[in-house]
Amino acid sequence: MTDKRTMLVTCALPYANGSIHLGHILEHIQADIWVRYQRMRGNRVIMVCADDTHGTPIMIKAKQLHMTPEEMITKIGEEHRKSFAGFLISYDNFYTTHSPENRELSERLFMKLKEKGYIKEKTISQLYDEKEKMFLPDRFVKGTCPRCHAEGQYGDNCEVCGATYSPSDLINPVSVVSGTTPMEKQTTHYFFDLPQFGDSLHEWVKTALPVEMVNKIEEWFEQGLQMWDITRDSPYFGFKIPGTDDKFFYVWLDAPVGYLGSFKNFCSRHPEVNFEDFVKADSPYEMYHFIGKDILYFHSLFWPAMLEGANLRRPTKLFIHGYVTVNGSKMSKSRGTFIKADTFLRHFPAETLRYYYAAKMNNKIDDIDFNLDDFVKRVNADIVNKLVNLAARSAGFLTKSFDGMLSAKLPDPALYQKFADARESIGSLIDSREYSRAVREIMELADEANRYVDETAPWVEAKKNGATPHLQEICTQALNMFRALMTFLKPVLPEVAANAEKFLSTELTWDSVAEPLLSHKINQYKALFTRIDRKATEAMIEDSKADLKAQQAQTASAESKNDNKKKDEKKKESAPAGIISFDDFAKVNLKTAKVLSCEAVEGSDKLLRFSLDFGNGDVRNVFSGIKEFYKPEDLIGKIVVAVANLAPRKMRFGVSESMILAACGADGKVRLIFPDNGSAEGMTVR
Ligand code: MSP
Ligand code: ZN
Repeated sequence: MTDKRTMLVTCALPYANGSIHLGHILEHIQADIWVRYQRMRGNRVIMVCADDTHGTPIMIKAKQLHMTPEEMITKIGEEHRKSFAGFLISYDNFYTTHSPENRELSERLFMKLKEKGYIKEKTISQLYDEKEKMFLPDRFVKGTCPRCHAEGQYGDNCEVCGATYSPSDLINPVSVVSGTTPMEKQTTHYFFDLPQFGDSLHEWVKTALPVEMVNKIEEWFEQGLQMWDITRDSPYFGFKIPGTDDKFFYVWLDAPVGYLGSFKNFCSRHPEVNFEDFVKADSPYEMYHFIGKDILYFHSLFWPAMLEGANLRRPTKLFIHGYVTVNGSKMSKSRGTFIKADTFLRHFPAETLRYYYAAKMNNKIDDIDFNLDDFVKRVNADIVNKLVNLAARSAGFLTKSFDGMLSAKLPDPALYQKFADARESIGSLIDSREYSRAVREIMELADEANRYVDETAPWVEAKKNGATPHLQEICTQALNMFRALMTFLKPVLPEVAANAEKFLSTELTWDSVAEPLLSHKINQYKALFTRIDRKATEAMIEDSKADLKAQQAQTASAESKNDNKKKDEKKKESAPAGIISFDDFAKVNLKTAKVLSCEAVEGSDKLLRFSLDFGNGDVRNVFSGIKEFYKPEDLIGKIVVAVANLAPRKMRFGVSESMILAACGADGKVRLIFPDNGSAEGMTVR
């Protein structure tokens, strides 16, 4: 073997039920810069991805759109491919988890694990829809959050207060499929025996993760690993478990296998890469996964354990990034900051974002803010004013007066040497994914190059003395510094670099920066990059908002086509989902009420029981899941705000006849809302 390495690089497989957005794009840009750099350094890199096509949310979405899952994932797969190509992500293969390769590999892993005793069968009890004859996975059950009482929450977690629970904890659980109340029923599931891998995983994470991440996940090991349920009952969109008729692999089993499925599909077209050699336990090759911090558990525990259990190689390293925020907040559909990849590309060239993300990224898991004003300023200041201008300011003189010939020597070789030497430090910063530091170093050099041009002032020389050898030399010096900078930025700005290569009539390679380009004929300079406009950011936000409305209309119309029974109820709902009319709001009768008594409910660690006085003798029994936040005795005598016209609901401990209003924080804490001093029971709130 030579010292050239062979590596497989992946990004997390995006779910095939929605568009690619700027959050996904961060990961793919981060990986692509790294991959392009590795390729420039002569390593063999195979970069693959795929759509993650199985599971309940995909089924639900396809149903909403009145499509089969197969139709939907084919259509979305094509969109995703285009979006990534639009951002110049250099995939060798972008495939799907719904593939023959992935089925075969998932079965192979499972059978191997089973053979080696790592798969256990267990009978569990799950919610079951009698009417539809199906078990209800978490997302098929909706109900009221047991903690904050927000209605319409899925069976796994509450989107309002962030609580996580199991579907049977929901208050008034309802099957999303039939609208009936589900019951508990027994089913036999396969479990993967993760605890058996505790020790070897503990060792492995030290090799695959940076030390601060290892420390972070230490608690997972301290808490003890759990058996992992890898089974979902029919109906499910996925792969059937061998030897069963109605059981499927949970999507998170076949999703990471999908990395290898995509790679195997690539190998079938590239016989020079041997799949089995690559995946065998003592593989000499490298495998890197770029992932977001939200899916670390799957990648640092389940995935390597499955591979180890099946006698296959584990990932070399996991590269983990944080989340994209826009203007300092979480991306928001209503604010128009949930920006899709394609929407962005309608307003800006891909490389503006590639550059901006690069300028902000490091190898830590901090969130990355896409600040729209800063983005415009930064791109114009760095790419246009510093980088491209360097070429624009010196190329014209060479073309006009020297027939495009560079001089035979540099006037300041020491200055050039500084640029040539920087390739080591910049290279190692990119290699360790310290992109912001690499970009800073490159821009500091660009400042220096521009100072050189300012000081030598070729336009003055040309005017004063004409086409002197000195003019040719100072322009050659400037262009050589430009060439070095452009080479360093080639992984970030591949298209600009390709155009610069045409202009310089040379290939920009990492090693060739060592020597300056001399006595060489260049081509006519053409603008390499155009300034971007702040107004386009506003247009992009408006576009995102419009896009959201169009999408909601599409889903709504597909839903109503789908669901004739519900048509009449739907007629009134012409406003986008989530927006209610004033009349709708007026239906909610909010009132102040006085807490006459309050006590903990025995047998529940969440609930408090209230006796609430709504005035005029209207005293009601109310349950609220705020036990962990308030002492009952502190609430007696207080005035609270509650819904006066809510239908009574039967709960495990009795009937609740209202709901108390509270603010549910992202920190998971719930804070009751109290009206200002001087309020009494029975007042109308609006
Ligand atoms: N399908 C799974 C991954 C399976 S990998 C075997 C999944 N898909 S996802 O579409 O939800 O996310 C794909 C990747 O995008 C994840 O790494 C996730 O962290 C990343 N991001 C999704 N939203 C993001 C931001 N707002 N910011 C940065 N990355 C984000 O998870
Ligand atoms: Zn909640």
